Amino acid sequence: MNSGTNERPVLFLDSGLGGLPYLRHFRERNPGEDTAYVADRRNFPYGPKDKDALSALLFSLFSRLIPLVRPKLAVLACNTASVSALDSLRKAFPGLPFVGTVPAVKPAVLNSRSALAGVLGTERTIADEYIQALARKCNPACRVMGVAAPELVEFVEYAMNSVSRAERLRVIKPYVEQFRAAGADSIVLGCTHFLFLLDEFRELAGEDITVYDSLSGVSSRAESLLSRQGLRGGGTGGRPRCFLTGGGEPGAAWEKLAGDFDLSLVLLDGISGEPV
Ligand code: DGL
Repeated sequence: MNSGTNERPVLFLDSGLGGLPYLRHFRERNPGEDTAYVADRRNFPYGPKDKDALSALLFSLFSRLIPLVRPKLAVLACNTASVSALDSLRKAFPGLPFVGTVPAVKPAVLNSRSALAGVLGTERTIADEYIQALARKCNPACRVMGVAAPELVEFVEYAMNSVSRAERLRVIKPYVEQFRAAGADSIVLGCTHFLFLLDEFRELAGEDITVYDSLSGVSSRAESLLSRQGLRGGGTGGRPRCFLTGGGEPGAAWEKLAGDFDLSLVLLDGISGEPV
């Protein structure tokens, strides 16, 4: 056992704040692990970018992060990054195990009574063949209705905290109604940003529509990879450093998130001056 390796952090990455619920979930279950977080706000949003552009920018970002953070495991806490670049990152950085976040399509299609599962994600995630292929593999009798909601990503990143719960319910209602009208009996939250609205989605979905998220799937996968590689534990569970790309100060919203999620903010471009 190499404790010098074990004490290194587990690194979570998203284009913005979407991965924070995943970081929190993992930290709660793993108090003996150190963690770090990256919000790539310079390149936010990822959803409208194509696969090659995302692979290139994530390669560049990890090339900077690996020597700086020395992670023992990286969690792409972003569906868009995962469906687009997980394979290329694994090839490019064979020494670093990666965990991806993909929409929880499997339980949704396996449990569907109406034979129609709903998935809400970014344009890139919904356009990717991954979701339909996974659904066909798990239950060929169930169709998947994918809806891209880029405006909801922007809402969560920039506005969610400054509006009332009533306003949040008003914003997501059309999506829930769209799935209900089509006969879907599930809504898979296929973008990590939407986890911030999980309670609101569940309230509007009611009894007849099940809302799926991938929180525990991602934590479990990270835990089993760490165990398998003998990398479990070794940290103190201390306050994670949260690296923000892009220029400028963190701003009030990130200061608040730092308080809510117990983060220590670091301006990544302030360190190297080298834009991604
Ligand atoms: N949070 C990301 C996801 O899970 C993407 C948001 C974006 O940058 O478009 O897909």
